[in-house]
Amino acid sequence: TRRITVHQIAAAKQRGEKWPMLTAYDAMTASVFDEAGVPVLLVGDSMGNVHLGYETTVPVTMDEMAVLSAAVVRGTRRAMVVADLPFGSYQEGPVQALRNATRLIKESGVGAVKLEGGERSLPQTELLVASGIPVMSHLGLTPQSVNTLGYRVQGRGDEAAHQLLRDAKAAENAGAFALVLELVPAELAAEVTRSLSIPTIGIGAGPDTDAQVLVYTDMVGLTGGKVPRFTKQYANLRQTLGDAAKAFAEEVAGGSFPREEHTFH
Ligand code: KIV
Ligand code: NA
Repeated sequence: TRRITVHQIAAAKQRGEKWPMLTAYDAMTASVFDEAGVPVLLVGDSMGNVHLGYETTVPVTMDEMAVLSAAVVRGTRRAMVVADLPFGSYQEGPVQALRNATRLIKESGVGAVKLEGGERSLPQTELLVASGIPVMSHLGLTPQSVNTLGYRVQGRGDEAAHQLLRDAKAAENAGAFALVLELVPAELAAEVTRSLSIPTIGIGAGPDTDAQVLVYTDMVGLTGGKVPRFTKQYANLRQTLGDAAKAFAEEVAGGSFPREEHTFH
């Protein structure tokens, strides 16, 4: 089967169709989302927090991203798979960005890469696009800059709003095919969405972006502890998995598993 293309993503905006994106970090989960019809899967560097147990996305390496991206590609047939360029894999400049993006395209088989920053990542975006690599940009709260930004709503106030609009235009002009807006006021996200011809993908950015993305572990209620207000839990997998583990443990302790039907003679 053929995968979703950047052209289909562009056409959805023309038709005013909204679409979902979810993160994925392994082949099995990715296959579930692919079969559910989610058109774009992001191998986010949120894998740092979610999957690898780091406190932030900052420590995620190219090797980790390459391995998990390849797994998501192997688990899917139809979805476009987008891999994050991790912190430190593109900040040195366009040549470094091209080397690492090329690895994710060739070795992992992803269809596109995502990087954080508008104006500051312009040379990187331009070279990747000129080299035939679709680029998704990421503005607003950019978690790779947590050490300077913290985790709070971005783009508040005139100056910050104007900079975000400039960054969005820069990403579009550099050839990005889509733009993630994370944790920005809904009114600003709506304005960015209206002023761009490429689709915006919101997370904590209100209802008026062209698409919505959630970290899948938040979406299925697997994340422990406090989850951000902008996420919605559509299931409670943490409870379900915990209950299954407890039931298994009890049956083993009580001798009721395995039974005859699970046993060979
Ligand atoms: O890494 C990630 O999961 C992301 C999304 C929140 C957009 O970048
Ligand atoms: Na990310």
